[in-house]
Amino acid sequence: MADKKWILHVCGARPNFMKVAPIWAAIAARDKLGQKLLHTGQHYDEKMSDVFFAELGLPVPDISLGVGSGTQAEQTGKVMVALEKVVAEQRPDLISVVGDVNSTLAAALVAAKACIPIAHVEAGLRSFDRAMPEEVNRVVVDRLSDLLLTPSADGDENLRREGVDASRIVRVGNVMIDTLRKNLPAAQARPILRELGLNAGGYALCTLHRPSNVDDAAVLGRILDALGAISQKLPLLFPVHPRTRKMLGAFDAKLKAWPQLRLCEPLGYLDFLALTSQAKLVLTDSGGLQEETTALGVPCLTVRENTERPATVTEGTNTIVGTDPKRIVAEAEAVLAGRGKAGRVPELWDGKTAERIAETYEQFLGRR
Ligand code: UD1
Repeated sequence: MADKKWILHVCGARPNFMKVAPIWAAIAARDKLGQKLLHTGQHYDEKMSDVFFAELGLPVPDISLGVGSGTQAEQTGKVMVALEKVVAEQRPDLISVVGDVNSTLAAALVAAKACIPIAHVEAGLRSFDRAMPEEVNRVVVDRLSDLLLTPSADGDENLRREGVDASRIVRVGNVMIDTLRKNLPAAQARPILRELGLNAGGYALCTLHRPSNVDDAAVLGRILDALGAISQKLPLLFPVHPRTRKMLGAFDAKLKAWPQLRLCEPLGYLDFLALTSQAKLVLTDSGGLQEETTALGVPCLTVRENTERPATVTEGTNTIVGTDPKRIVAEAEAVLAGRGKAGRVPELWDGKTAERIAETYEQFLGRR
């Protein structure tokens, strides 16, 4: 790697891993640039991190910061302090960040102050809801980035409206869909449905982890009421994020009343993809899952008031249903009655995004 320009990829939380994996593989295959992988340790459980490295073919990180959990400021600050030392010692030619988690923000702040160029993959997304920590992260990271790699046209428009020079914006498509397409056959060959006693098209799948939905017991209770009602119409599998798990103790009695609402531990990438791709219906507050269901043509009900991924609604299978239980149940019933959205896959969600990103990085570093 000595004579090559090189990229430091920063990842830290579950939704980062499926975005970094194809970029890493594309850069390795082209062999024009060097690269190192840094894991901040924002997510650290075997089920939130290690399983993704193993299944997605990511190498053991060159550098692990091991920062762990904390408040917004603690987590961001801990990544910044540790990463600043690494960057000062190693001086990468480019720092590549993905998504909108606290590790993404911390890396962009460190890179900007060390005068190292930043590439942001998944730039330009906006929910216009500053109460979401991720929205704050998106706005700041995009402001600091030299290369803004967008997944869809709305991203380009948002950036232009914020005054970003068009020369820095490159629409590359949705890199997470590269990972989905590559892994779908292996995922569907897994025995997870059989093991759980589920039939393809005969169950719903749910995930919840947004602070606005799960940190407030009253809101979470209302959403659980909706899930309980839906589970009386078809089995509903609910892999539980650790943030959500902490809150569910208070709902033991409620949950016992709904035997068809089945809680389980967080799942690995392949099992979860197998379950998503064969679900009748997905209910979620995850950004990534809104996109995955659109790519798979599976109806998705988003339990939020907004989305930073509007193409999933205007083109895909997503419907924003908010958190009112009556509306959630009514929309689920519409899907069960065959009125779910079929949608189409947005342009450039074609499995070739990582290749376009690698090409863009080579051109960018070739000019410097
Ligand atoms: C983070 C991201 C969010 C992303 C989500 C995916 C931010 C602001 N949020 O939210 O955008 O959608 O990851 O999962 O960066 N915990 C564990 N084990 C782990 C990780 C976390 O038990 O491996 C628990 C800890 O109690 C922690 C809590 O989950 O305090 C929340 O973790 P954190 O990384 O702060 O935020 P997420 O809710 O996971």
